[in-house]
Amino acid sequence: MNFLKKELENIKNKGQYRELTYLKGSQNKYCSFEDKKVLLMASNNYLGLCDDERIKKVSKDAIDNYGVGSGGSRLTTGSYDIHKKLEEEIAILKNREAALLFNTGYMANIGVITSICNKEWIIFSDEFNHASIIDGCRLSGAKIVVYKHSDMKDLKQKVKLYKGAKRIIITDGVFSMDGDIAKLPDIIKISKDNDIWVMVDDAHATGILGEKGSGTEEYFGLKGQVDIQVGTFSKALASEGGYVAGSYELIEYLKNKARSFIYSTALSPIVVSAALKALYIIKKDNNLRKNLLNNSKWFQEELKERGFCILESETPIIPLLVGDEDKAMKFSKMLFEEGIFIPAIRPPSVPKDTSRLRITLMATHIKEDLNFVLDKISYVFKKLK
Ligand SMILES: Cc1ncc(COP(=O)(O)O)c(C=O)c1O
Repeated sequence: MNFLKKELENIKNKGQYRELTYLKGSQNKYCSFEDKKVLLMASNNYLGLCDDERIKKVSKDAIDNYGVGSGGSRLTTGSYDIHKKLEEEIAILKNREAALLFNTGYMANIGVITSICNKEWIIFSDEFNHASIIDGCRLSGAKIVVYKHSDMKDLKQKVKLYKGAKRIIITDGVFSMDGDIAKLPDIIKISKDNDIWVMVDDAHATGILGEKGSGTEEYFGLKGQVDIQVGTFSKALASEGGYVAGSYELIEYLKNKARSFIYSTALSPIVVSAALKALYIIKKDNNLRKNLLNNSKWFQEELKERGFCILESETPIIPLLVGDEDKAMKFSKMLFEEGIFIPAIRPPSVPKDTSRLRITLMATHIKEDLNFVLDKISYVFKKLK
């Protein structure tokens, strides 16, 4: 066991030791971290639906109707009508023939990549793809070709260099740490010109991008062009669980092959019914999404006007670049003292010297909240210098 201690010391010495902090109450714009009330500017609960009364009610009803656990894997005793209903609804939102639920977005990526790709495959993967894509690629045994982040010239060159009958490009739809949107029109063109599959992980785009909140494809007007759609209900959809959407054959194949689907107990009816209700809400009401994105635009302009270096985005994810790890940590800590929670994101989650505050907006934030944050960020930044 000595090596565990040594490795922990090693992590501490590098300043990369991670610890859990505990929230009290629901995931809303005001929450308490160990008795300190703060304004939350860091949640993936983008539409503020985690604490929505309509969603809480259906989850309570689900307990009365189904109990709390699903009791088995989907292929044994764990499939309920609401699992099927949620799969049908997400397939409709994604404009696909069918969909399959996984227990998390992480498991969806692992399941789909490892069941399709093997050592005969070449995977072209954006360097900023989420860890679950990276892990899925590694586990699959395929040849992994990483292209520079959203660099279409690099992707094209690598596609020319690495030939083969079984090739796939995998990208996040919205990149989680940078908030930018994948260059899907270019990716689709490269894939069509070279007969390559495309898989998009729309974890941060579903419910956010596109007129109906369908995601990156809809945002670019490219409906139906992506071969494999992956996502999660854990962000804008305020619940839990991942999904893959695609052709009927793809989904049947995954039911038979994806180990993270086959060998895991089905999602609890509580979270499934919550996700289903959230889907209904976002389908009916696109004002939540529109206000959120307008606020994000406004907030970014204000930050720029105050001289901050941000990565501009068309999403609710706004990275405020700090660079130095320690400075980013201190910035975050001082904001916390001032009543605002924005975590510092450091390597290995982001490249060296790009440590940042990852600000995310929620639909429940109003201008008054955002002005408060702007003032505090300016105040703390001056003190930091
Ligand atoms: C791009 C991306 N894909 C997948 C996941 C994993 O989803 P889940 O939290 O449902 O496991 C996340 C975040 O958690 C993500 O940011």
